[in-house]
Amino acid sequence: MLFTPGRIGSLELPNRLVRSATAERMADEKGFPKPELEALYTELAQGGVGLIITGHMYVAPSGKCHEEMTGIYSDEHIPALVRLTKTVHKEGGKIAAQINHGGGSSNAETVAEPIAPSSAGEPYFMRSARSMAPGEIEETIQAYAQAARRAKESGFDAVQIHGAHGYLISQFTSPLTNKRNDQWGGNIENRTRFLRRVCQAIREQVGPDYPVFIKFGIIDGLEEGLLPEEGIQIISQFIEMGLDAVEISGGVGYQSTRKGIRKPAEEGYFMPIIEEARPQTDLPILAVGGFRSRHVMERALLSGVADFISLCRPLIREPGLPNLIQSGEREKSTCISANNCWPTKMNTGIACKCPALPEGD
Ligand SMILES: Cc1cc2nc3c(=O)[nH]c(=O)nc-3n(C[C@H](O)[C@H](O)[C@H](O)COP(=O)(O)O)c2cc1C
Ligand code: SF4
Repeated sequence: MLFTPGRIGSLELPNRLVRSATAERMADEKGFPKPELEALYTELAQGGVGLIITGHMYVAPSGKCHEEMTGIYSDEHIPALVRLTKTVHKEGGKIAAQINHGGGSSNAETVAEPIAPSSAGEPYFMRSARSMAPGEIEETIQAYAQAARRAKESGFDAVQIHGAHGYLISQFTSPLTNKRNDQWGGNIENRTRFLRRVCQAIREQVGPDYPVFIKFGIIDGLEEGLLPEEGIQIISQFIEMGLDAVEISGGVGYQSTRKGIRKPAEEGYFMPIIEEARPQTDLPILAVGGFRSRHVMERALLSGVADFISLCRPLIREPGLPNLIQSGEREKSTCISANNCWPTKMNTGIACKCPALPEGD
Protein backbone atom coordinates (compact mmCIF):
# COMPACT_ATOMS: atom_id res chain seq x y z
CA MET A 1 0.00 0.00 0.00
CA LEU A 2 2.83 2.44 0.87
CA PHE A 3 4.21 2.15 -2.63
CA THR A 4 1.00 2.60 -4.60
CA PRO A 5 0.31 5.89 -6.43
CA GLY A 6 -1.78 8.63 -4.85
CA ARG A 7 -3.15 12.02 -5.74
CA ILE A 8 -3.48 15.51 -4.20
CA GLY A 9 -5.84 17.43 -6.47
CA SER A 10 -4.30 17.39 -9.94
CA LEU A 11 -0.93 16.24 -8.59
CA GLU A 12 -0.13 12.57 -9.13
CA LEU A 13 2.31 11.05 -6.68
CA PRO A 14 4.21 7.77 -7.10
CA ASN A 15 3.77 6.57 -3.51
CA ARG A 16 2.18 7.43 -0.16
CA LEU A 17 5.27 8.68 1.66
CA VAL A 18 5.65 12.43 2.15
CA ARG A 19 8.47 14.43 3.65
CA SER A 20 6.63 16.57 6.19
CA ALA A 21 7.70 20.23 6.21
CA THR A 22 10.98 20.57 8.06
CA ALA A 23 12.59 23.96 8.66
CA GLU A 24 16.01 23.32 7.25
CA ARG A 25 17.72 26.50 8.52
CA MET A 26 19.68 26.70 5.25
CA ALA A 27 18.96 30.25 4.02
CA ASP A 28 20.82 33.54 4.31
CA GLU A 29 19.61 36.58 6.25
CA LYS A 30 17.28 37.65 3.42
CA GLY A 31 15.81 34.16 3.07
CA PHE A 32 17.71 33.11 -0.08
CA PRO A 33 18.43 29.36 0.03
CA LYS A 34 22.06 28.28 0.37
CA PRO A 35 23.53 25.48 -1.81
CA GLU A 36 23.16 23.05 1.13
CA LEU A 37 19.38 23.13 0.65
CA GLU A 38 19.69 22.04 -2.97
CA ALA A 39 21.95 19.19 -1.86
CA LEU A 40 19.44 18.08 0.80
CA TYR A 41 16.51 18.09 -1.65
CA THR A 42 18.59 16.08 -4.13
CA GLU A 43 19.22 13.46 -1.43
CA LEU A 44 15.54 13.36 -0.47
CA ALA A 45 14.38 13.05 -4.10
CA GLN A 46 16.92 10.29 -4.74
CA GLY A 47 15.76 8.58 -1.54
CA GLY A 48 12.36 7.80 -3.03
CA VAL A 49 9.92 9.94 -1.04
CA GLY A 50 6.75 10.61 -3.09
CA LEU A 51 6.49 14.31 -2.20
CA ILE A 52 8.89 16.70 -0.50
CA ILE A 53 7.29 19.54 1.46
CA THR A 54 9.77 22.36 2.05
CA GLY A 55 10.40 23.79 5.49
CA HIS A 56 8.09 26.71 6.23
CA MET A 57 8.89 29.77 4.14
CA TYR A 58 7.98 33.26 5.33
CA VAL A 59 5.45 35.19 3.27
CA ALA A 60 6.40 38.60 4.70
CA PRO A 61 9.35 39.93 6.71
CA SER A 62 6.95 40.44 9.66
CA GLY A 63 6.33 36.67 9.66
CA LYS A 64 9.93 35.41 9.84
CA CYS A 65 9.84 32.90 12.68
CA HIS A 66 13.54 32.28 13.18
CA GLU A 67 16.96 32.87 11.71
CA GLU A 68 17.97 31.06 8.50
CA MET A 69 14.33 30.53 7.47
CA THR A 70 13.72 30.41 3.70
CA GLY A 71 11.86 33.42 2.26
CA ILE A 72 9.17 33.64 -0.41
CA TYR A 73 8.11 37.24 0.28
CA SER A 74 9.52 38.88 -2.83
CA ASP A 75 9.78 38.17 -6.55
CA GLU A 76 13.56 38.38 -6.09
CA HIS A 77 13.39 34.94 -4.45
CA ILE A 78 11.93 33.30 -7.57
CA PRO A 79 15.20 32.51 -9.46
CA ALA A 80 16.69 30.77 -6.40
CA LEU A 81 13.46 28.84 -5.81
CA VAL A 82 13.40 27.80 -9.48
CA ARG A 83 16.84 26.23 -8.96
CA LEU A 84 15.45 24.19 -6.06
CA THR A 85 12.42 22.87 -7.95
CA LYS A 86 14.54 22.04 -11.02
CA THR A 87 16.94 20.07 -8.84
CA VAL A 88 14.08 17.95 -7.48
CA HIS A 89 12.41 17.48 -10.86
CA LYS A 90 15.72 16.42 -12.42
CA GLU A 91 15.76 13.54 -9.91
CA GLY A 92 12.17 12.62 -10.78
CA GLY A 93 10.79 14.01 -7.48
CA LYS A 94 7.87 16.27 -6.60
CA ILE A 95 8.03 19.26 -4.28
CA ALA A 96 5.45 21.45 -2.51
CA ALA A 97 6.18 24.84 -0.93
CA GLN A 98 5.00 25.31 2.66
CA ILE A 99 4.10 28.97 3.23
CA ASN A 100 3.83 30.55 6.66
CA HIS A 101 3.60 33.69 8.74
CA GLY A 102 4.80 33.37 12.32
CA GLY A 103 2.53 36.06 13.80
CA GLY A 104 3.30 36.25 17.51
CA SER A 105 5.66 33.27 17.26
CA SER A 106 8.83 34.84 15.98
CA ASN A 107 12.24 35.34 17.52
CA ALA A 108 13.54 38.71 18.69
CA GLU A 109 16.46 38.23 16.24
CA THR A 110 14.09 38.20 13.26
CA VAL A 111 11.11 40.45 14.11
CA ALA A 112 11.36 43.47 16.41
CA GLU A 113 7.63 43.82 17.13
CA PRO A 114 5.61 40.66 16.45
CA ILE A 115 1.99 40.99 15.33
CA ALA A 116 -0.85 38.63 16.24
CA PRO A 117 -4.66 38.54 16.16
CA SER A 118 -4.71 39.95 19.71
CA SER A 119 -2.02 41.34 21.95
CA ALA A 120 -0.78 38.39 23.93
CA GLY A 121 2.34 37.19 25.66
CA GLU A 122 3.47 34.20 27.67
CA PRO A 123 2.64 31.35 28.00
CA TYR A 124 1.44 31.18 24.38
CA PHE A 125 4.20 33.38 22.95
CA MET A 126 7.74 33.81 24.25
CA ARG A 127 7.29 37.60 24.30
CA SER A 128 4.49 40.10 23.86
CA ALA A 129 2.85 40.63 20.47
CA ARG A 130 0.82 43.56 19.14
CA SER A 131 -2.77 43.17 17.93
CA MET A 132 -3.07 43.48 14.13
CA ALA A 133 -4.94 46.45 12.66
CA PRO A 134 -7.66 45.48 10.09
CA GLY A 135 -5.48 46.88 7.28
CA GLU A 136 -2.57 44.67 8.39
CA ILE A 137 -4.85 41.63 8.29
CA GLU A 138 -5.80 42.40 4.67
CA GLU A 139 -2.12 42.97 3.73
CA THR A 140 -1.10 39.68 5.32
CA ILE A 141 -3.82 37.76 3.43
CA GLN A 142 -2.40 39.21 0.21
CA ALA A 143 1.13 38.24 1.33
CA TYR A 144 0.04 34.57 1.50
CA ALA A 145 -1.58 34.87 -1.94
CA GLN A 146 1.51 36.44 -3.50
CA ALA A 147 3.71 33.79 -1.91
CA ALA A 148 1.52 31.08 -3.47
CA ARG A 149 1.78 32.78 -6.86
CA ARG A 150 5.59 32.85 -6.51
CA ALA A 151 5.59 29.17 -5.56
CA LYS A 152 3.64 28.31 -8.71
CA GLU A 153 5.89 30.53 -10.86
CA SER A 154 8.96 28.89 -9.30
CA GLY A 155 7.83 25.44 -10.44
CA PHE A 156 6.59 23.99 -7.15
CA ASP A 157 4.11 21.17 -7.77
CA ALA A 158 1.82 22.36 -4.97
CA VAL A 159 1.46 24.83 -2.11
CA GLN A 160 0.88 23.84 1.48
CA ILE A 161 -0.54 26.50 3.80
CA HIS A 162 0.88 26.16 7.32
CA GLY A 163 -2.17 26.19 9.54
CA ALA A 164 -0.69 24.40 12.55
CA HIS A 165 1.74 24.59 15.46
CA GLY A 166 0.72 27.97 16.87
CA TYR A 167 1.69 30.20 13.94
CA LEU A 168 -0.53 32.98 12.56
CA ILE A 169 -3.35 30.85 11.10
CA SER A 170 -3.55 28.80 14.31
CA GLN A 171 -3.44 32.04 16.28
CA PHE A 172 -6.60 33.16 14.47
CA THR A 173 -8.45 29.84 14.86
CA SER A 174 -7.55 29.38 18.55
CA PRO A 175 -9.78 31.10 21.12
CA LEU A 176 -6.72 31.32 23.37
CA THR A 177 -4.87 33.78 21.14
CA ASN A 178 -7.78 35.33 19.28
CA LYS A 179 -9.70 37.62 21.64
CA ARG A 180 -10.89 39.98 18.92
CA ASN A 181 -14.45 41.19 18.96
CA ASP A 182 -14.62 42.30 15.32
CA GLN A 183 -15.35 40.10 12.26
CA TRP A 184 -11.99 38.26 12.78
CA GLY A 185 -12.68 36.91 16.27
CA GLY A 186 -15.33 35.48 18.58
CA ASN A 187 -17.32 32.55 17.23
CA ILE A 188 -15.75 29.78 15.16
CA GLU A 189 -16.96 31.28 11.89
CA ASN A 190 -15.17 34.54 12.65
CA ARG A 191 -12.03 32.77 13.88
CA THR A 192 -11.79 30.84 10.61
CA ARG A 193 -12.46 33.93 8.46
CA PHE A 194 -8.71 34.64 8.14
CA LEU A 195 -8.03 31.12 6.83
CA ARG A 196 -11.03 31.25 4.48
CA ARG A 197 -9.84 34.57 3.07
CA VAL A 198 -6.26 33.25 2.68
CA CYS A 199 -7.58 30.23 0.72
CA GLN A 200 -9.76 32.44 -1.47
CA ALA A 201 -6.94 34.93 -2.17
CA ILE A 202 -4.56 32.07 -3.04
CA ARG A 203 -7.08 30.55 -5.47
CA GLU A 204 -7.46 33.93 -7.17
CA GLN A 205 -3.70 33.92 -7.80
CA VAL A 206 -3.04 30.28 -8.74
CA GLY A 207 -6.31 29.30 -10.46
CA PRO A 208 -8.70 26.41 -9.81
CA ASP A 209 -6.48 23.48 -10.85
CA TYR A 210 -3.22 24.16 -9.03
CA PRO A 211 -2.87 21.85 -5.98
CA VAL A 212 -3.28 23.74 -2.71
CA PHE A 213 -3.47 21.93 0.61
CA ILE A 214 -3.04 22.66 4.29
CA LYS A 215 -1.25 21.39 7.36
CA PHE A 216 -3.84 21.93 10.03
CA GLY A 217 -3.54 21.90 13.79
CA ILE A 218 -6.70 20.10 14.84
CA ILE A 219 -6.05 20.78 18.57
CA ASP A 220 -3.89 23.21 20.53
CA GLY A 221 -3.42 20.86 23.45
CA LEU A 222 -3.60 23.88 25.78
CA GLU A 223 -6.24 24.83 28.32
CA GLU A 224 -8.86 27.09 26.70
CA GLY A 225 -7.31 26.38 23.30
CA LEU A 226 -8.93 25.00 20.13
CA LEU A 227 -11.19 22.08 21.05
CA PRO A 228 -11.02 18.84 19.02
CA GLU A 229 -14.68 19.20 17.97
CA GLU A 230 -13.96 22.69 16.65
CA GLY A 231 -10.88 21.45 14.80
CA ILE A 232 -12.95 18.69 13.17
CA GLN A 233 -15.68 21.19 12.25
CA ILE A 234 -13.08 23.40 10.52
CA ILE A 235 -11.72 20.40 8.60
CA SER A 236 -15.24 19.65 7.35
CA GLN A 237 -15.19 23.06 5.59
CA PHE A 238 -11.93 22.52 3.68
CA ILE A 239 -13.56 21.31 0.45
CA GLU A 240 -15.69 24.45 0.42
CA MET A 241 -12.51 26.50 0.98
CA GLY A 242 -11.10 25.04 -2.24
CA LEU A 243 -8.40 22.91 -0.61
CA ASP A 244 -7.18 19.64 -2.15
CA ALA A 245 -5.92 17.75 0.92
CA VAL A 246 -5.25 18.13 4.63
CA GLU A 247 -2.25 17.06 6.67
CA ILE A 248 -3.50 16.69 10.22
CA SER A 249 -1.20 17.75 13.04
CA GLY A 250 -1.76 19.48 16.34
CA GLY A 251 -0.21 21.08 19.38
CA VAL A 252 1.96 24.10 19.81
CA GLY A 253 5.75 23.88 19.63
CA TYR A 254 7.15 20.62 20.92
CA GLN A 255 3.73 19.01 21.43
CA SER A 256 3.59 18.60 17.66
CA THR A 257 6.98 16.86 17.68
CA ARG A 258 6.54 14.36 20.49
CA LYS A 259 9.69 12.92 22.05
CA GLY A 260 10.59 9.35 22.87
CA ILE A 261 8.67 7.39 20.23
CA ARG A 262 10.19 3.95 20.75
CA LYS A 263 7.35 1.40 20.55
CA PRO A 264 4.82 0.84 17.76
CA ALA A 265 2.03 1.71 20.22
CA GLU A 266 3.55 5.21 20.58
CA GLU A 267 3.64 5.83 16.84
CA GLY A 268 1.09 7.83 14.87
CA TYR A 269 0.15 9.85 17.94
CA PHE A 270 -2.54 11.93 16.20
CA MET A 271 -4.28 8.85 14.75
CA PRO A 272 -7.10 8.71 17.36
CA ILE A 273 -8.21 12.24 16.46
CA ILE A 274 -7.56 11.76 12.74
CA GLU A 275 -9.92 8.76 12.95
CA GLU A 276 -12.59 11.07 14.36
CA ALA A 277 -12.03 13.60 11.57
CA ARG A 278 -12.07 11.02 8.75
CA PRO A 279 -15.88 10.82 8.31
CA GLN A 280 -16.10 14.62 8.12
CA THR A 281 -14.14 15.08 4.88
CA ASP A 282 -13.65 13.35 1.55
CA LEU A 283 -10.30 15.07 1.05
CA PRO A 284 -7.11 13.01 1.07
CA ILE A 285 -5.65 12.98 4.59
CA LEU A 286 -1.92 13.05 5.30
CA ALA A 287 -1.25 11.64 8.77
CA VAL A 288 1.82 12.98 10.57
CA GLY A 289 3.36 12.51 13.98
CA GLY A 290 5.62 9.73 15.13
CA PHE A 291 5.38 7.20 12.29
CA ARG A 292 8.43 4.94 12.43
CA SER A 293 7.49 1.34 11.47
CA ARG A 294 6.40 0.10 8.09
CA HIS A 295 3.55 -1.98 9.56
CA VAL A 296 2.13 1.00 11.51
CA MET A 297 2.19 3.13 8.34
CA GLU A 298 0.58 0.36 6.28
CA ARG A 299 -2.12 -0.11 8.94
CA ALA A 300 -3.00 3.61 8.87
CA LEU A 301 -3.41 3.45 5.08
CA LEU A 302 -5.24 0.13 4.95
CA SER A 303 -7.74 1.26 7.60
CA GLY A 304 -8.81 4.01 5.19
CA VAL A 305 -8.14 6.67 7.84
CA ALA A 306 -5.05 8.09 6.12
CA ASP A 307 -4.18 8.40 2.43
CA PHE A 308 -0.55 9.46 2.92
CA ILE A 309 2.03 9.14 5.70
CA SER A 310 4.14 12.19 6.44
CA LEU A 311 7.57 11.78 7.98
CA CYS A 312 9.85 14.46 9.38
CA ARG A 313 12.48 13.19 11.82
CA PRO A 314 12.94 9.77 10.14
CA LEU A 315 13.97 11.63 6.97
CA ILE A 316 16.34 13.94 8.87
CA ARG A 317 18.01 10.79 10.16
CA GLU A 318 17.96 9.06 6.76
CA PRO A 319 16.77 10.90 3.65
CA GLY A 320 16.92 7.58 1.77
CA LEU A 321 14.53 5.75 4.13
CA PRO A 322 11.67 5.27 1.59
CA ASN A 323 13.91 3.27 -0.76
CA LEU A 324 15.27 1.24 2.17
CA ILE A 325 11.72 0.36 3.23
CA GLN A 326 10.65 -0.46 -0.31
CA SER A 327 13.62 -2.77 -0.88
CA GLY A 328 12.89 -4.56 2.39
CA GLU A 329 16.24 -3.52 3.89
CA ARG A 330 14.54 -1.59 6.67
CA GLU A 331 11.25 -2.24 8.54
CA LYS A 332 11.60 0.73 10.87
CA SER A 333 13.30 4.12 11.12
CA THR A 334 16.21 4.23 13.54
CA CYS A 335 15.22 7.73 14.70
CA ILE A 336 14.98 7.75 18.51
CA SER A 337 12.87 10.94 18.65
CA ALA A 338 15.03 12.73 21.21
CA ASN A 339 14.75 15.92 19.15
CA ASN A 340 18.41 16.81 18.79
CA CYS A 341 17.96 17.81 15.14
CA TRP A 342 17.36 21.55 15.57
CA PRO A 343 20.66 23.47 15.16
CA THR A 344 22.20 25.06 18.22
CA LYS A 345 24.63 27.16 16.15
CA MET A 346 24.20 29.29 13.03
CA ASN A 347 25.34 27.92 9.67
CA THR A 348 24.92 24.29 10.68
CA GLY A 349 21.41 23.54 9.35
CA ILE A 350 19.24 20.65 10.55
CA ALA A 351 21.22 17.50 11.21
CA CYS A 352 20.73 14.26 13.07
CA LYS A 353 22.68 14.46 16.31
CA CYS A 354 21.03 11.72 18.39
CA PRO A 355 23.26 8.74 19.12
CA ALA A 356 22.66 5.53 17.20
CA LEU A 357 20.28 3.05 18.79
CA PRO A 358 22.01 0.34 20.77
CA GLU A 359 22.21 -2.93 18.86
CA GLY A 360 18.99 -4.93 19.10
CA ASP A 361 16.84 -2.04 20.41
C1 LIG B 1 13.74 20.16 13.02
C2 LIG B 1 12.26 20.22 12.77
C3 LIG B 1 11.76 21.23 11.96
C4 LIG B 1 10.38 21.29 11.69
N1 LIG B 1 9.91 22.26 10.86
C5 LIG B 1 8.60 22.29 10.52
C6 LIG B 1 8.11 23.22 9.55
O1 LIG B 1 8.85 24.02 8.98
N2 LIG B 1 6.79 23.18 9.26
C7 LIG B 1 5.93 22.28 9.84
O2 LIG B 1 4.74 22.29 9.51
N3 LIG B 1 6.37 21.39 10.74
C8 LIG B 1 7.67 21.36 11.07
N4 LIG B 1 8.14 20.40 11.93
C9 LIG B 1 7.18 19.38 12.45
C10 LIG B 1 7.19 18.14 11.55
O3 LIG B 1 6.82 18.43 10.22
C11 LIG B 1 6.24 17.04 12.08
O4 LIG B 1 4.92 17.55 12.10
C12 LIG B 1 6.64 16.54 13.46
O5 LIG B 1 8.05 16.51 13.63
C13 LIG B 1 6.10 15.13 13.74
O6 LIG B 1 6.52 14.22 12.75
P1 LIG B 1 7.75 13.16 12.97
O7 LIG B 1 7.41 12.36 14.18
O8 LIG B 1 7.76 12.36 11.71
O9 LIG B 1 8.97 13.95 13.19
C14 LIG B 1 9.50 20.33 12.25
C15 LIG B 1 10.02 19.32 13.08
C16 LIG B 1 11.38 19.25 13.33
C17 LIG B 1 11.92 18.14 14.18
S1 SF4 C 1 18.45 14.02 15.99
FE1 SF4 C 1 17.31 12.37 17.08
S2 SF4 C 1 15.17 12.94 16.82
FE2 SF4 C 1 16.35 14.09 15.27
S3 SF4 C 1 16.36 12.77 13.47
FE3 SF4 C 1 18.17 12.25 14.62
S4 SF4 C 1 17.50 10.46 15.87
FE4 SF4 C 1 15.68 11.48 15.17
